[in-house]
Amino acid sequence: MKYALVTGAGRGIGRAVAIRLAEMGYHILINYLSNVAAAEQTLAAIRERGDDGELLPFDVADKRAVDAAVDAWRATHPDAFVEVIVNNAGIRRDGLLMWMPEEDWYRVVRTNLDGFFHITQPLLKDMLVRKSGRIVNIVSLSGLKGLPGQANYSAAKGGVIAATKALAQEVAKKCVTVNAVAPGFIRTDMTADLDEATLRKTIPAGRFGEAEEVADLVAFLVSERASYITGEVISINGGIF
Ligand SMILES: NC(=O)c1ccc[n+]([C@@H]2O[C@H](COP(=O)([O-])OP(=O)(O)OC[C@H]3O[C@@H](n4cnc5c(N)ncnc54)[C@H](OP(=O)(O)O)[C@@H]3O)[C@@H](O)[C@H]2O)c1
Repeated sequence: MKYALVTGAGRGIGRAVAIRLAEMGYHILINYLSNVAAAEQTLAAIRERGDDGELLPFDVADKRAVDAAVDAWRATHPDAFVEVIVNNAGIRRDGLLMWMPEEDWYRVVRTNLDGFFHITQPLLKDMLVRKSGRIVNIVSLSGLKGLPGQANYSAAKGGVIAATKALAQEVAKKCVTVNAVAPGFIRTDMTADLDEATLRKTIPAGRFGEAEEVADLVAFLVSERASYITGEVISINGGIF
């Protein structure tokens, strides 16, 4: 069986990616933080299409929790190889740096940046040994450009972009690719509080993107056809640049 782990797969982009990779034949490990009902809906949507997966909740920001969950899963799946990791779990806690509560800085960095390290490190060794693997990190326009009110989020996503480029060079010889996908405004719970009518005027395509559009890009990067693409950051933002 081919396994793919998608963090934050309960809702939004992660759910769309999970469904899309399941269609490609992967058994999906559906990670989420606390919204069990949403994660169960992701699993149900996968099963409705005749594919399969399982729930694997943990907090990506908590290294011990990640290690415990990965170890427990491995104990019950001793021969399984997770050949795809989509580091998608992420949060925003926007505010001007001047007034930003310490907790908002650290929580965003721990989830978006440290989470990448917490998950990728324990699963990387198998990829190197088997000389095969795909790591896709969901970053953001904010991490490329820096957006006011998002110093924490821009820093975390910018950090993941740099780590993507560095790790790609470390593992390329072992046929493991590491890429980042940088969405602009995508219609999910994360952007539900934004004023879409005003913001769409700043987007050349004139609309927010859909999670499924991001999922199609991730699916291509995971596919065999993308073997020679690594260390890249691919924007999907309706032409905002
Ligand atoms: N939407 C956009 O416009 C946009 C733009 C650029 C980048 N992105 C990035 O795309 C990714 C997905 O965003 P989205 O819009 O789909 O978000 P979303 O709809 O808010 O969903 C976030 C998902 O991440 C999970 N999650 C959050 N914190 C977690 C943690 N500490 N450990 C494990 N899972 C956690 C949530 O779990 P629960 O359901 O249990 O809460 C949920 O499944 C994020 O990295 C985000 O930064 C989004």
